[in-house]
Amino acid sequence: MNKSSLPQHVAIIMDGNGRWAKKRFLPRVAGHKAGVESARRIVRNCAKHKIKVLSLFAFSSENWRRPAQEVSYLMELFLTGLEREVGMLHENNVRLRFIGDRSKFNEKLCSKITEVEHLTAANTGMTLIIAADYGGQWDICQAVRELARSVEAGTLSSQDITPELIRRNLSFADLPDPDLFIRTSGELRISNFMLWQLAYSELYFTETLWPDFDEAELEKALSHYAERERRFGYSSDQLNELAG
Ligand code: FPP
Repeated sequence: MNKSSLPQHVAIIMDGNGRWAKKRFLPRVAGHKAGVESARRIVRNCAKHKIKVLSLFAFSSENWRRPAQEVSYLMELFLTGLEREVGMLHENNVRLRFIGDRSKFNEKLCSKITEVEHLTAANTGMTLIIAADYGGQWDICQAVRELARSVEAGTLSSQDITPELIRRNLSFADLPDPDLFIRTSGELRISNFMLWQLAYSELYFTETLWPDFDEAELEKALSHYAERERRFGYSSDQLNELAG
């Protein structure tokens, strides 16, 4: 239990596209374009490593604050990326799921998302989660709202609200929590990503900018993870006893 060499679920904040572009005297959007290529590479490599779930934070609830031009470029990039990659993902048995509030996406993007989710729903290989217009606080809030509705309707007593019940109402309820969280570009923050589910995740931060995060970088993160001792609140003596 304390040393599992391969994470089942890897969650990534792909940060540093803008700085990658700036270093090359390119517009920020060139960084996002390179970021998509990096995402493609990591999806392929995680599938190769038999990671069961990969979650990518593509657009946060706060990213709407960016200049309108950048936001619309990102939306276009998500749409064309989906159109381009869906065939390859489906052929490789990847199940694609989106989490987040879709209400602000345009109709074309929304229907593409629904289409690819249906197409890949029965796939049994890696599950790829794209978090878009997602925020951990939004997720907890919608779960609490759902439970409050049941309390109002008289079908749930407030005494019966437990962490497990809250968890079951969150977006990733049917999936294991992330074992490994990665953030690129040197920022040491969780930035409202999967707040509840990251409670016991191992955190890995690297200075590498997202477009440069390649297979070797992923291997490095995985080997750091393999060396960590996960304790889940137990003492090291207890873990030694459990390990026999
Ligand atoms: C961070 O770079 C990246 C984003 C805000 C989201 C965009 C992500 C991609 C385009 C990657 C591909 C995604 C998928 C799966 C479709 P930043 O702009 O915050 O960089 P900076 O901090 O250097 O300015």
